[in-house]
Amino acid sequence: MHLWNELIVRAKSVEARPILELFENPDRAAGFSAEFGPFLFDYSKTNLDAETRTLLVQLAEHAGLAAARTAMFSGAKINETEGRAVLHTALRNLETDVFVDGVNVMPEVRATHARMQDFVRDLRAGRIAGQGGAITDVVNIGIGGSDLGPAMATLALAPYHDGPRCHFVSNVDGAHIHDTLRGLNPETTLVIVASKTFTTIETMTNAETARAWLAARVADPGAQFAAISTEPERTAAFGIAPERVFGFDDWVGGRYSVWGPIGLSLMLAIGPERFDEMLAGAAAMDAHFRVAPLAQNLPVLLALVGVWHNQFCGHATRAVLPYDQRLARLPAYLQQLEMESNGKRVAMDGTSLPYNSGPVVWGEPGTNGQHAFYQLLHQGTRIVPCEFIVAAKGHEPELAHQHRLLVANCLAQSEALMRGRSLDEARARMAAKGLEGPELERQARHRVFPGSRPSTTLLYPQLTPEVLGGLIALYEHRVFVEGVILGINSFDQWGVELGKELALALEPVLAGRDPGQGKDGSTLALAARVRGLQG
Ligand code: F6P
Repeated sequence: MHLWNELIVRAKSVEARPILELFENPDRAAGFSAEFGPFLFDYSKTNLDAETRTLLVQLAEHAGLAAARTAMFSGAKINETEGRAVLHTALRNLETDVFVDGVNVMPEVRATHARMQDFVRDLRAGRIAGQGGAITDVVNIGIGGSDLGPAMATLALAPYHDGPRCHFVSNVDGAHIHDTLRGLNPETTLVIVASKTFTTIETMTNAETARAWLAARVADPGAQFAAISTEPERTAAFGIAPERVFGFDDWVGGRYSVWGPIGLSLMLAIGPERFDEMLAGAAAMDAHFRVAPLAQNLPVLLALVGVWHNQFCGHATRAVLPYDQRLARLPAYLQQLEMESNGKRVAMDGTSLPYNSGPVVWGEPGTNGQHAFYQLLHQGTRIVPCEFIVAAKGHEPELAHQHRLLVANCLAQSEALMRGRSLDEARARMAAKGLEGPELERQARHRVFPGSRPSTTLLYPQLTPEVLGGLIALYEHRVFVEGVILGINSFDQWGVELGKELALALEPVLAGRDPGQGKDGSTLALAARVRGLQG
C-alpha cells in the first residue's frame, strides 16, 4: 500500500497545478507521448509528470504485471473463478503453439480458422447459396460479446465491405428482430446464431423467431443457418448442421471473442484477407505489449493514465470520443470490455477492494457529442478525463476538406479542455461587446472555462483493418493491466447473473401464471400494472 498512498498524496499535491504550465517544458509533448506501429498516444495534456509516471510504473511492477502477462500468454488459468485460461491472443497469432492443460490448442484454432475462410470464400462466391441464390444478407443474432465486437468492427471497416450486407440483432425486444428481418429476402439471408454458451435467453429467443420466420417462407430453414458456439451439442439440438457450426473454446471470453468464429459476420463482409490483416494488427500489438519497456508500452501507458485518473485523481468516469463516425459503436464495445472486466468489488482472493473498481466508460463520436454533452465536459463541476481517437486521413479523398474539419475539431477540443478561458479573458470579451458594470461581470462569469481538464489523444494514419486490430488489442491489454493493478479477476462476469435469474422468474409473473410470492411491493405493483396495460 506504500506506493498507493504515495500516489494519493501526489495526486493531491498536483491537483491545483494547471496542465498548461507543464508545457513550459518545450519537450512536454514528446516526453509524454509514445509511439508504436501506426499509433501515436499523446498523454501530455494530463497532469501526469515524470515523478508520477515513475511511481505508476512501479505500481504496475509491484502488482506483478510482468508475471501476470507471461501467465496470460502462456495459457495459465488466470481466470481463477471460472478455472479458465485467457487466450484470445492465440486467435490472432496462429503460428505459435499454446498449451492448456498440456494440450496444444493451436491445431484446432488453425483448423477452425481455415474452415471459416473456406466457408466465407464459398459463400461470397455463391458456391454456398441460399434457396433463392447467392446470400445477399447476413443476420448475426447474439448479444454482449457475441454482438458488440463484430457489430463495432463491421461498421468500422465499412470502406472494405465487398461481401453480403450484415445486420446485427441483439435485443430481446421483438422490435429489433422484427425491424431487421422486415424487408429481407429469406431465401438469400443467412442467419448466424452467435452464442458462446448457446443458452443466452435473448439470443435463443431471437434465434427461435428467426427460425419461425424462415420456416414460414423457405422449404429448408436449417440451410439458411450457421452457428458459433463452444457448445456443439446445443447447436446440434437446435438443428444446425455440424458443417455450419464454428466452435471455439472456453478460454476465449465473450468480450474478447471477435478474433475467432464470433467474427464470422465481419469476415463475410470484408473477406478473409482483410480479416487476417485485422488479426495481424492485433498480433503486432500483442508483441509490443509483451516486450516494450513499461514506460513506452502503449497498453501499459493507457492503463497507467486510466488508473491515475480513476483511482488517484478520483474521476469516476471516462469519456471515449472517437472522431470517426465509423467508430460509433466503439464506446459501447469498450463499455463492455472495461466495465464487465473491471467492474468488480472484490480482489482475486475474495477480500473487499480497499479502493474503487474500474471506471464508468461512456462516449459518442465527435463532433456529434460536441453539440450534446461537451458542455458538461467543459464547464460542469465534475472532471471527466477524455480519450480522443482520430485518424489523420479518411477514406473519402474527395471529402478531405471535411476530414480536415473533423481533425481540427478533435484537436480544438483537447486544447480547449486544457486551456480553458479565464475570468479576465471572459471580461475582455464582454467589454468588446459593449457590456459594462454588473452585467458585464455576470455575463463574463458564465463564459469562464476552468480548463486543466485532462485528455489523451490516440492518432493513427487511417482506420484500416490492421489499425482496427491494433486498436482493439491496445484496449484489451489496457483493461488487463488495469485489472492486474487493481488485483481483480478481469475475466469473469458474475455481476450479470442475478438480473438474468430474476428476469426468468418474473416472466411467469408477467404472464399471470405465478403470483410472485416473496417479491417486493414495487416489483409486484409494476408487474400488475404491466398486466393491466397489456389487457
Ligand atoms: O451476460 C453477459 C454475457 O455472458 C457476456 O459476457 C457475453 O458476452 C454475453 O453474455 C453473451 O453470452 P453468449 O455468447 O454465451 O450468448
